[in-house]
Amino acid sequence: MQDQDFHRIADDIIYHPLFTQMRTFVHHGGENSLYDHSVDTAKCAYRLARRFGMREERVESVTRAALLHDFFGYDWRSDAHKQFLRHYSGLRRLTHMHAFVHGAMAARRANRLFGLNERQRAAITSHMFPLAPVPRNSEAWVLTLADKIVASREMSETVGWHMRRWYRKVVS
Ligand SMILES: [Fe+2]
Ligand SMILES: [Fe+2]
Repeated sequence: MQDQDFHRIADDIIYHPLFTQMRTFVHHGGENSLYDHSVDTAKCAYRLARRFGMREERVESVTRAALLHDFFGYDWRSDAHKQFLRHYSGLRRLTHMHAFVHGAMAARRANRLFGLNERQRAAITSHMFPLAPVPRNSEAWVLTLADKIVASREMSETVGWHMRRWYRKVVS
């Protein structure tokens, strides 16, 4: 039932070609894509919102914001992105690094394509807290928490993935 409800809220985004394009962007290493990360974060945010007893419209709002929280649309490990950073130096380069700017970029792009409300834009912009502004509404806090839960699970899985590769290389 929860599964069906999640898909009712999320599927128009999940099947959009610019969203499925994120399958090609690796995220947090190993075999994990930005697409997987975004869908897992949205499922986690949906569950947290239900557990916290949030109002129906807020559950929908945070689930869609979570799907789009990393919808910045570029591969941050690519040469093109490194080239972009070369336009800046010193502290300005640091503040234009991916970790600091991608929330605001994702909010702008997601809004152009899917139309977001003010609370969703604020939630996406602040999801990298403490590297981004303090979350200022319930959707923003739930999204920040869901992103960190999923990212820490992905990173520990990536360590395991590298260990298995290393082990295969050494043993075979
Ligand atoms: Fe992010
Ligand atoms: Fe994320």
